[in-house]
Amino acid sequence: MIAPMTPWPYPFWIAHRGAGKLAPENTLAAFRLGAQHGYRMFECDAKLSADGTVFLLHDATLERTSSGHGVAGALPWSVLSQLDAGGWHSRAYAGEPPCSLAALAAFCLGNGHHLNIEIKPTPGTERETGEVVAREAARLWAEAAVAPLLSSFQPDALAGALARAPALPRGLLLEAWWDGWLEAARALRCSAVIAHYPMWDAARVAEVHAQGLRALSYTVNDEWPAAHLQALGTDGIITDRVDLFAPHAPR
Ligand code: G3P
Ligand code: MG
Repeated sequence: MIAPMTPWPYPFWIAHRGAGKLAPENTLAAFRLGAQHGYRMFECDAKLSADGTVFLLHDATLERTSSGHGVAGALPWSVLSQLDAGGWHSRAYAGEPPCSLAALAAFCLGNGHHLNIEIKPTPGTERETGEVVAREAARLWAEAAVAPLLSSFQPDALAGALARAPALPRGLLLEAWWDGWLEAARALRCSAVIAHYPMWDAARVAEVHAQGLRALSYTVNDEWPAAHLQALGTDGIITDRVDLFAPHAPR
């Protein structure tokens, strides 16, 4: 049976980690730069500090994208917030602080921007991270016309999000069509499947759409796959290349 398509208030183009590689990922400086390139929706990676603050960081550890060391989730926000999250990228961004979800919410809500919050748990904290991120997102966006899209590769994180904030839309991230992905997306009451872009073909798009799910892709940085995904009728693209793709271009 063909399911009705989930309403979808989001733009087609989504800037990965703020502005891809042009600014230090997951910092406010990156989201501001993405917005300067015309982007109106952003993807970020969210996890928990040791004392339960939701903040932005892709890796479980601090070394690659900050001046800190070790497992980020083992430190309180009072320590994490003092790190330099920009100097690793370039001198122009030295001193840029790590970003809390609350700070990014203020930026998005103040400018009418949309957000995809990827729940990126420290290993072993999947369920708790999903619960706390969803609860915090529901609180921060309580008055917003459009809720943020929550996504994760971890079904346990999405289960936590569903339990705490069922009204927030969820997307299942997929690196492969693993056995049971569709049953998981259904059980988690997802609105979207966000797949590694080469996974899509016409049959998969039709299969996903027939379930009422939206079909999105990460991380598309070249023109030919972007054109192919648009021709397939997919619903969104996450890109690093905010300098290449004009987000208001016709689909
Ligand atoms: O959310 C899409 C994409 O960000 C998933 O992969 O590793 O870049 O977080 P990653
Ligand atoms: Mg991500």
